[in-house]
Amino acid sequence: MQIRAAVLEDFGKPLVVQDVELDGPKAGEVLVRLAACGVCHTDMYTASGADPSGYAPTVLGHEGAGVVEAVGEGVTSLAPGDHVVTLFSPQCRECVHCRSDKTNLCLAIREEQNKGHLPDGTTRLHRGDERIRSFMGTSTFAEATVMPEIALAKVDPAAPLDVVCSLACGATTGIGAALYVAKVEPGTTCAVFGAGLVGLGAVAGARMAGAARIICVDLDEGRLEQARHHGATDTFIGGPDAVERILEMTGGFGADYTFEATGNVKVMRQAVEAARMGWGLCTVAGVAGKGEVLEVVPRYLITGRRIAGASFGGAKGRDRVPELVRSYLDGDLDLEAFVTRRIALDEVNDAFAAMDRHEGVRTVITRF
Ligand SMILES: NC(=O)c1ccc[n+]([C@@H]2O[C@H](COP(=O)([O-])OP(=O)(O)OC[C@H]3O[C@@H](n4cnc5c(N)ncnc54)[C@H](O)[C@@H]3O)[C@@H](O)[C@H]2O)c1
Ligand SMILES: [Zn+2]
Ligand SMILES: [Zn+2]
Repeated sequence: MQIRAAVLEDFGKPLVVQDVELDGPKAGEVLVRLAACGVCHTDMYTASGADPSGYAPTVLGHEGAGVVEAVGEGVTSLAPGDHVVTLFSPQCRECVHCRSDKTNLCLAIREEQNKGHLPDGTTRLHRGDERIRSFMGTSTFAEATVMPEIALAKVDPAAPLDVVCSLACGATTGIGAALYVAKVEPGTTCAVFGAGLVGLGAVAGARMAGAARIICVDLDEGRLEQARHHGATDTFIGGPDAVERILEMTGGFGADYTFEATGNVKVMRQAVEAARMGWGLCTVAGVAGKGEVLEVVPRYLITGRRIAGASFGGAKGRDRVPELVRSYLDGDLDLEAFVTRRIALDEVNDAFAAMDRHEGVRTVITRF
């Protein structure tokens, strides 16, 4: 079938919205008609050419939500009409990692996904004879996509897709950092560095876990206001004195849990140093630039602080995303506040520009 899609033709150049061909689903695959797709920093990072593992041409996009249109042979967990959220981090439920509750890094399709292929080593996207690789296994800046069954979370159709698409990446990364990685305990103190979608998710997750105090640090007052909306009890503008200020606010000890959601290695170091002596746990969610290193004075570890990290908030997506959709429908999680602008696919390059200017939290494509 012909679909409209935003193609990355050359690094550093605007995406080009055009018609491309999408083949139908093969065994174990599903054709999804997209209803919404968030625009994330990772898309912009790849488009810029800064990501050493990036490739072109490809159809970007990984924060999709839509409706199943057709299923390939052997697909049993999904049927036409089902509402789904796309997962760049799949869950096969069979590999050694899926069977462990210690990680969400499913091993089933990693290698082919990293090469821009579907699990059988081929692609469904093309332009005549020219194959177009898929991005993060999702390629959701498009009217439709074909993805493996194991990379789709089936969600309650009562939830608007242009809101729950935030759970495809950033929101789950932050919420999961609090709920599934740090496993925040009730009555504790948390400190979150960065209040983009990931940091705001961490604030919301800490609140859902019952934290008594949630300190949020960002450089932007508007973002801090958002953080207070999601449950932050104390907020301040970050800078070199951030650790000192958190120590002052916690009787000199530091926070029980700290979260880093900026991608800046200097802030990661602050998050380690702001964690409580004895048992403080620092969870790193930000992605640092190529070659950058996190500096930590080992004494911080000997005196009982720990550092953790995870991709996609440690969430096993097919299990966790539907649960988080349920929390949203029950009114425990305000996903709507994350969506600040809705646009057409043709405006995707404007969304990148808005992101550069730090405007809003998430722009979502809703017209394809
Ligand atoms: N681990 C994963 O699977 C995963 C998934 C999505 C995003 N990420 C990463 O998480 C990070 C955050 O993503 P996002 O979408 O929320 O980004 P964002 O740019 O929207 O938010 C980052 C926030 O950090 C703030 N900030 C910058 N410098 C700061 C400082 N010195 N002190 C305090 N705050 C500071 C900015 O003002 C901004 O509000 C990025 O590095 C992104 O690549 C990781
Ligand atoms: Zn993302
Ligand atoms: Zn697996």
